[in-house]
Amino acid sequence: MCGIFGYLGQQDALTLCLQGLERLEYRGYDSTGVAGITSKGKIALCKEAGKLSELKKKLKLKKLEIAIAHTRWATHGKVTTVNAHPHLDTAKNIALVHNGIIENYIPLRDQLKKKGIPFLSETDSEVIVQLIADSYEGDLLKAVCQTLHLLKGAFAIAVIHSDHPDEIIAASRECPLSIGVADGATETIISSDPNAFLGANWNVLFLRSGEIARAKKGSVEIFDLDLKPLQKKTERMINDTPPPSKEGFPHFMLKEIFEQPSTIQKALFGREHALELKGLSDEDLKNKSQVWFIGCGTSYHAGLLGSMLLEEFAHIPSHAEIASEVRYRVPIFSKDTLVVAISQSGETADTLSAVREAKAHGCQVLGICNVTNSTLTREVDGAIFLKAGPEVSVCSTKAFTSQLTVVTLLAIYLARLRGNPAEPLLAALKKIPEQVAEVLKLAPQIEQIAKKYSSYNNFFFMGRRYMWPTCLEAALKLKEISYVNAGGYPAGELKHGPIALLDAHFPVAAFCANGQTRDKILSNLMEVKARGAPVLAFAPADFYEVEAIADHTIWLPAVIDPLAPFISTVAGQLLAYFIAKQKGCNIDQPRNLAKSVTVE
Ligand code: F6R
Repeated sequence: MCGIFGYLGQQDALTLCLQGLERLEYRGYDSTGVAGITSKGKIALCKEAGKLSELKKKLKLKKLEIAIAHTRWATHGKVTTVNAHPHLDTAKNIALVHNGIIENYIPLRDQLKKKGIPFLSETDSEVIVQLIADSYEGDLLKAVCQTLHLLKGAFAIAVIHSDHPDEIIAASRECPLSIGVADGATETIISSDPNAFLGANWNVLFLRSGEIARAKKGSVEIFDLDLKPLQKKTERMINDTPPPSKEGFPHFMLKEIFEQPSTIQKALFGREHALELKGLSDEDLKNKSQVWFIGCGTSYHAGLLGSMLLEEFAHIPSHAEIASEVRYRVPIFSKDTLVVAISQSGETADTLSAVREAKAHGCQVLGICNVTNSTLTREVDGAIFLKAGPEVSVCSTKAFTSQLTVVTLLAIYLARLRGNPAEPLLAALKKIPEQVAEVLKLAPQIEQIAKKYSSYNNFFFMGRRYMWPTCLEAALKLKEISYVNAGGYPAGELKHGPIALLDAHFPVAAFCANGQTRDKILSNLMEVKARGAPVLAFAPADFYEVEAIADHTIWLPAVIDPLAPFISTVAGQLLAYFIAKQKGCNIDQPRNLAKSVTVE
């Protein structure tokens, strides 16, 4: 999975590709590369392991009129320059960039090897370029088309050939690819994400699964897999948003944590009394007999909390599932099931395939998404945008609390539609931005505590009811940015196994905010303490009993149980941030991760 970019036009293709890669780096930053066709009709290539800055140090290419570029999140093959894209065929006439996975690449590679074709990389992608070369007889479009028929998997590709210095062939199967033609028809851009089209006004078309494009300077033709020409409508896109800045914060993550009082407010604003869901009517929603939340990682945690809120306030049977598991279950989906797909990026492959599965079962799907123009929002029946602004840090923070805001509003809305108004919940939700601002004032204290806990290699987070998904989220934050082994548990589960791991070197962070289970969490704290584990408690200001048990306590504003995840989450984000800072980790771009995971 990766980001693909291509440019044909009167500007320097190399410069444009580098700018495009900067915008696509959220899709992976293991390596980057660019290939173009020189004025002498040869393929020029430069690629490098590591971030875009590494490529820039190495680049010696001259001005190009046509180029394709790539930023990689490694799937097949280590993070090396050889495995970086673009990949070339043996004769070095063809260059290819690829996003996705070719599931049958081993038999295909074996067949090519038997024909004497050598392979340089460990990637599945190199198979595609060699197959194209193998079937090429002067018509690049035809050779790409023949190759597509041999491939299994989900992918998007862009290909150039030195004999065709005026065209890029692009194709997609279940992976996003957009093509923009600028006003004046002098430039064409291909990108995994249309939000990477900078500056000018673009007429954009989105390549659907099974479509092939032949892009030329200022024009594009689309074909199906039999090379029958297709007519496609373009959409108007004006992208004049300036690139996000850290605004004086040392990291995007800290900036985004501190934005939360305002981003929660934005997610809430104008939605207190009704939600606009476009393709989904009140009648549709009223008649649903069950709701499934689907998402991955942080977005799945928001779904878990959403399912609890819907159950408690709208009295609808609700369930949350990790998106990558949905299609392998036998879900009891029907047209009375509402599927709520949560995704910050709207490009997560696992979530998109679960959405397609649900739609195939006749379910209506509501998307909760931050990024406008994303694939998710184009495929769902109705969408609610988070309006949180770009989230740059790979580690999701403000998107999560905006997702929580939206799922709470959804619970309130459905509760009203079903005759169970939840006005006290709404009143409490409106106070959350202020209370989150109170938590942010604790940053210096949390930093001091983080210093004390930064030498541990293991961590448990435990909590009950609404605090359990909150613990999962806190553990995920700590794992991904500080590389500490962390687990989140319902506090009652610890004694069923995990407690065996505890000793003086294994701290437990207890999220104590769920008032309904106060006595129980106190007992669990005692059990943990009895095993000698250091205890760090996050407790509401009125939970004085905690102090005598915990080694350290962070006192948080007291809020009602269903909204306590907002408060404890922000404290957990700060803890993870300061531990990672103390350990000197790359906070905004942790190793092995990508902001948007576009492979299954
Ligand atoms: C964690 C994180 C990931 C994402 C997950 C889903 O901080 O960012 O777990 O939440 O990859 O991404 P989206 O929400 O874009 O579908």
